[in-house]
Amino acid sequence: MARKKIALIGGGQIGGILALLVAQKELGDVVMVDIPEKEGVAKGKTLDITEGTPLMGVDCNLSGTSNYADIAGADVAIITAGVPRKPGMSREDLLDVNLKIMTNVAENIKKYAPNAFCIITTNPLDAMVYSFKKITGFPKNQVVGMAGVLDTGRFKSFVAMELGVSAEDITATVLGGHGPTMVPLPRLATVGGVPLMELMPQEKIDAIVDRTRKAGTEIVGLLGNGSAFFSPAISSVEMAESYIKDKKRVLPCAAYLEGEYGINGYYIGVPAVIGSGGVEKVLEIELTDEEKDMLNNSLEAVKKAVADTKL
Ligand code: APR
Repeated sequence: MARKKIALIGGGQIGGILALLVAQKELGDVVMVDIPEKEGVAKGKTLDITEGTPLMGVDCNLSGTSNYADIAGADVAIITAGVPRKPGMSREDLLDVNLKIMTNVAENIKKYAPNAFCIITTNPLDAMVYSFKKITGFPKNQVVGMAGVLDTGRFKSFVAMELGVSAEDITATVLGGHGPTMVPLPRLATVGGVPLMELMPQEKIDAIVDRTRKAGTEIVGLLGNGSAFFSPAISSVEMAESYIKDKKRVLPCAAYLEGEYGINGYYIGVPAVIGSGGVEKVLEIELTDEEKDMLNNSLEAVKKAVADTKL
């Protein structure tokens, strides 16, 4: 079987970690694309990792370019092109600048890799993935946004820290937009199959939910000059792997809804099955009235950002 070809659009902080993870996991060959001024960075990062492949014992061809034609035939495209936040900025503050970048990226992927499964990580996430789908005209199963995997990763880490248990044994899901209005669902979280609600008092759970909502901003504050990049890369690779290996993982993703949860024509976070068909299915959960209100509130934030794209 020929190796898969994975296009990494953007060779910045997330792009570099993505290239390393894809190589380590031997998911396929990597083509990293950046703008002409940063072509040397894309070439340098991929060459640097290439020189580590013998030591990791993996087979992976990595290359860097500023020529989008080099992504021809890519099976997967992970898009991180765009400006990250600085302290004091909301994700929505990035909309104008990142929309221009996303337009350029979408046109090039449509032209050179029209069959790629596309995973968007650029912020403001829900509006950027919407724009990408609108500009490419790709079917909804082929375009997904990375948010919930990261948001639940954060939630699970905080639960693990609090309980002193393995984060691996925690399951959780989150709905809604990727931002402060997101809707973590502690009611459904489990620790080794035991409901979280039975293991932790409500105040502790509330504090974890609150920290999860602000977790991206916490990292932006600490870094001082950029946003989280390790965990977003890990999250995107988890989604890419489920697609490439047809694992059919159930992952919270920004998926395009057509009636699910009463939402129509928007990307928003929901649990979805990712397999060789892309976003194969959205799982619908019966929500409490309070959760429904929170989801509707989050949808309003997403709608506002989407309206600002004027697409
Ligand atoms: N095509 C390809 N790459 C581009 C383009 C383009 N049209 N425009 C910009 N880029 C590149 C930049 O040159 C830069 O190298 O995208 C890269 C982005 O890297 P960083 O600035 O390091 O940002 P990063 O931390 O990787 O985050 C990227 O993901 O999580 C989101 O909010 C974050 O929107 C941000 C994005």
